[in-house]
Amino acid sequence: MAVDKNPINAKISSGASPKVCKILIVYHSQSGNTRRMAESVAKGAAAIMNVGVTLKRAPEATLKDLLECDGLAIGSPEYFGYMAGLVKDFFDRTYNEARERKETFKKPYAVFVSAGNDGTGALSHIERIAMGYQFKKIYEPVIARGVIDNAILEKCEELGGTLAAGCEAGIY
Ligand SMILES: Cc1cc2nc3c(=O)[nH]c(=O)nc-3n(C[C@H](O)[C@H](O)[C@H](O)COP(=O)(O)O)c2cc1C
Repeated sequence: MAVDKNPINAKISSGASPKVCKILIVYHSQSGNTRRMAESVAKGAAAIMNVGVTLKRAPEATLKDLLECDGLAIGSPEYFGYMAGLVKDFFDRTYNEARERKETFKKPYAVFVSAGNDGTGALSHIERIAMGYQFKKIYEPVIARGVIDNAILEKCEELGGTLAAGCEAGIY
């Protein structure tokens, strides 16, 4: 098996991480735009010392992932003015058992959305659901409209870095 020698990529996994501070990134992507954003969020988070990053497509993300992470980022494309169905499914599968638990109360979170020309519908519905979990929003959402360019990817990296650095420092 090929070993990734890039120390940042080596810290991003799709499974459990042994690092002190755990950042979970849950996303859905059909044509790759949100995936690219998610990977940049992961890159930004993984650049912070003592942080382990778990990058998961929404259908693979579990309640355990959610309860065990110290902070999370949710990424979705906007479909029909709403979040992707599989991101909604992640919320549907975890909400009952996660809400009102100390592990999710005020858990730091941030959102990123990829849209053709809008994105506000997906964002507002994710934020509304996040209130139900009592997550704590710690960063302004990144909304990409149209082509994913380097400026957007840099913003995503910054989002991931800020989330991870704050969680690691315990400031949220
Ligand atoms: C079924 C479908 C519905 C969409 N609905 C919207 C929409 O309501 N608003 C919008 O701005 N873009 C809409 N788009 C465009 C996507 O949000 C956009 O292409 C996005 O970058 C796709 O992300 P992905 O590559 O991660 O799947 C839609 C795309 C599809 C396939």
